[in-house]
Amino acid sequence: MSYPSVSFRFALFLSFSLTASSSSSSLLPPVPFFSKRYAPSSSIPKATPSDLLSLLASKSQPLTVNPVVARQLKSCFKFLVPFSPAMPRHRKLGMAALTGPSRREENELVWFPPEPVLELARLAVDSGGDSAAIHRLLNPTVIPVPDVEGSNKDRCQLTRTPYGRRFVCEELNLYLQFLFELIVNRGPSVGLDVKLNRFDLFHGHLFLAVDSGRLGILFHAKEYPEYDKQVFPYNMGFCQRGSNVTYDDSMNLRNILWLAPLPGDSKDSWVAPGVLVVLDARADGIIYRDLIPDYVKYARTIYEDDLGDVAVDVNYLNVGSETQNYQIFIC
Ligand SMILES: *[C@@H]1O[C@H](CO)[C@@H](O)[C@H](O)[C@H]1NC(C)=O
Repeated sequence: MSYPSVSFRFALFLSFSLTASSSSSSLLPPVPFFSKRYAPSSSIPKATPSDLLSLLASKSQPLTVNPVVARQLKSCFKFLVPFSPAMPRHRKLGMAALTGPSRREENELVWFPPEPVLELARLAVDSGGDSAAIHRLLNPTVIPVPDVEGSNKDRCQLTRTPYGRRFVCEELNLYLQFLFELIVNRGPSVGLDVKLNRFDLFHGHLFLAVDSGRLGILFHAKEYPEYDKQVFPYNMGFCQRGSNVTYDDSMNLRNILWLAPLPGDSKDSWVAPGVLVVLDARADGIIYRDLIPDYVKYARTIYEDDLGDVAVDVNYLNVGSETQNYQIFIC
């Protein structure tokens, strides 16, 4: 997430809190803004982020997830790579497969990624979700984020910090790149028309979901829809200027989730394959109802912090001037 949208989020939060405190001065009980979110307000069972992760970990339905919730959640999963119930046989696909893989190889790279990605997934769990463990895998050299498609002239800073870093292990950087490209290539198969540019898809949030033992990335496409008096009357700051992303039904598909395979108890065991899925936040679905906070319903944003502890943001930015040149920046 980039800073302008953070401040946008907090500005909204502030205006809600002010409303809440002014209503408390009129002797009404204060409105607990956040605590309402997952609390059962009636007998209708609510979906939680952990339900979502559980369903993506096993084929048989986990007993912890209410069957009604499970059915509704599953109806919102649009898989970019077929959901594979069993761990495929471990086929070692290395660097070579990351550049120019076949469709089958692409699937396998998601189900069972190259060794460094698996090590990262295991490290996430073994470290108890300590993001410092991830940070230590980054090259300490900081790389200033250059102009991205004219962002400088709009005074837009897309990334959390004005500089980024890369993983020491080049295969990890390549894998991230592979995921961005795969989302763009396969998006249309589920109705997601997505482009790699500074208004649409350029970032994801790498998180560690400690309770479920899962490492993942929540990608956000359609980050800055074009301001439009009728359909999107929201000012999101400098980075929205000049946007050519139309606010339409494809906004429902802007949250894309990658999960690394789920590590088992012993060093080499894996209990669930990797996943790449679009989380459909259509207005009549359970994701929209239960997993998207009220104050960003219109933007259809699932928050990464709801899925786990965020370790870093991963950005894939076109920093070329004449010709396209996409680079990874970890911030
Ligand atoms: C939309 O804007 C991006 C970023 O400036 C640009 O790369 C892309 O070509 C534009 N798309 C269209 C259809 O104009």
